[in-house]
Amino acid sequence: MNQHLSILGSTVLLSIILATPAWSVNPAGYGSAGGEFNIKISRVPANELAKAKSTNPPFEPTPEILAEGEKIFLGRGGCISCHGAEGKGDGAAAKNLPIQPRNFTNPKFNTYRTPGEMMWVLKNGSMGQTGRVPGTGMLPVVQPNGFISEEDGWKVLLYERSLGEQTK
Ligand code: HEC
Repeated sequence: MNQHLSILGSTVLLSIILATPAWSVNPAGYGSAGGEFNIKISRVPANELAKAKSTNPPFEPTPEILAEGEKIFLGRGGCISCHGAEGKGDGAAAKNLPIQPRNFTNPKFNTYRTPGEMMWVLKNGSMGQTGRVPGTGMLPVVQPNGFISEEDGWKVLLYERSLGEQTK
């Protein structure tokens, strides 16, 4: 785990160094919820968007699934370090990122993204693939490029969506 995190750390640093000149963001927004890059723009490239949008989770967000998703978010997924304990995008590592992590408690986010688009990001990261959003610290987390299974990815993203449902 520690070894994994340090690899993650250096990759994040590298992407910051690469991303900063063209896309520097006002440091006043660092570490604060809501300092995100435009959430209305999908992070999925145009030629893969229709397929991503029509990909549905393999199970319903039952209380059991959401509880497992929360465990992954706070534990082995490491999402908490950037997205924060409450999913507001204000985790400890967020301060070091030029683009702020997603605030999942914003109910609007769920209206701009389908679960399938979120899964695409879990598999591919948000690395500037569309050319409309700069590369960010959101690296691939689902296998094969990430470290959690696809099933765990669905659980944790359903949990993230539930945070926006609660604040509606
Ligand atoms: C190193 C910091 C970091 C970690 C760790 C991290 N994220 Fe993120 N995440 C980000 C950032 C930064 C963004 C904003 C990316 C953007 O604006 O395109 C983001 C955005 C997202 C999005 C929204 C993508 C979209 O379409 O807008 C999802 C979903 C997501 N993260 C899920 C997760 C999950 C699940 C985990 C844990 C398994 C996780 N993240 C771990 C930094 C992180």
